[in-house]
Amino acid sequence: MTEKKKILVVQPIHHAGIELLKNNNKFEYEILNDANLENIKEKIKTCDGLSLRTAKLPGEVISFGKKLKIISRHGVGYDNIDLDYCKKNNITIAITATANAVAVAEHVFFMMLSLCKRKNMFDETVREGNFKNKNSLPSTFELWEKNILIVGFGRIGKSLIKRCLGFEMNVYIYDPFVSEDMIKSYGGTKVEILEDSIKNMDIVSLHMPLNENTKNLINLSILKKMKKNSIIINAARGGIINEKDLDIALKKNFIFGAGLDVYSVEPPENNNPLLKNDKTILSPHTAALTDECRKRMGVETIQNLIDFFEHKLEKFKQVEL
Ligand SMILES: NC(=O)c1ccc[n+]([C@@H]2O[C@H](COP(=O)([O-])OP(=O)(O)OC[C@H]3O[C@@H](n4cnc5c(N)ncnc54)[C@H](O)[C@@H]3O)[C@@H](O)[C@H]2O)c1
Repeated sequence: MTEKKKILVVQPIHHAGIELLKNNNKFEYEILNDANLENIKEKIKTCDGLSLRTAKLPGEVISFGKKLKIISRHGVGYDNIDLDYCKKNNITIAITATANAVAVAEHVFFMMLSLCKRKNMFDETVREGNFKNKNSLPSTFELWEKNILIVGFGRIGKSLIKRCLGFEMNVYIYDPFVSEDMIKSYGGTKVEILEDSIKNMDIVSLHMPLNENTKNLINLSILKKMKKNSIIINAARGGIINEKDLDIALKKNFIFGAGLDVYSVEPPENNNPLLKNDKTILSPHTAALTDECRKRMGVETIQNLIDFFEHKLEKFKQVEL
């Protein structure tokens, strides 16, 4: 009989994912609730594959996993894993490629609508007994016929465009790696130069990875080019927008508002000025954490591990290293 593969579940996931392991006699598993690096180092020693949520996995920690063949991310970002180490040591990285695009795209709508309809201010007005003052409150905006620039046209960008077209918005795409034909087939218009196109946009929503090319891509010089009434949403990765610059742009009324799900440091530090800026709407990196999406991610994370060991993990679920 072949030996059971040992799976380490680093940080708890939806029980529907765990059920897949419980019901499969080719695997044994252990759930690591406290994902501090010392714990991971100890437990990784004997495992063949692991599932990973947000914990950071530097090469120094992965190196304890002498049998480790695969890291299965619960999500699609993999900036918390030492990619060089994995490449050199032939460790596969899998992502939940089909699980979370819709949840993130809906979250962008939650942020766009909350900002345009002044959700925070209106809610407070009623609760504080100021209903009668409604005519002196600032105006709100529609999404209808507004120009949105989706930066990054991958899984989430493609899910977002469908929803934007449903709201009859004009959708522009900046993604140097996606063809004009592909963008047209989704009903969008490709733009070539971010700095130029951003001047005409009412909304900019970021959906690309964080890497050396995108770090601080949105800085004061870009923000200054945006329309005064425009908003920017970041549900991709913290660090793509320079947070100090964003705070300045909001305070100086270069732009109208910002929706942020991700931060350069998570949790954001207490002195992060954006926490006190009332032109922002904030969420704690929860864009993909709907009930439905948690379940999909939990199941796909584990299914990817099972598929890997059964030699049938599809290519599009593997990170190209
Ligand atoms: N907030 C959350 O909870 C959450 C959840 C899921 C994904 N994300 C993040 O959202 C982002 C997008 O995820 P996805 O699944 O759509 O990824 P994806 O890999 O499917 O798509 C990313 C796209 O970005 C494009 N791109 C790369 N560099 C670019 C650049 N410099 N300018 C413009 N476009 C560029 C790529 O060509 C690709 O089409 C990732 O950063 C991911 O980590 C966040």
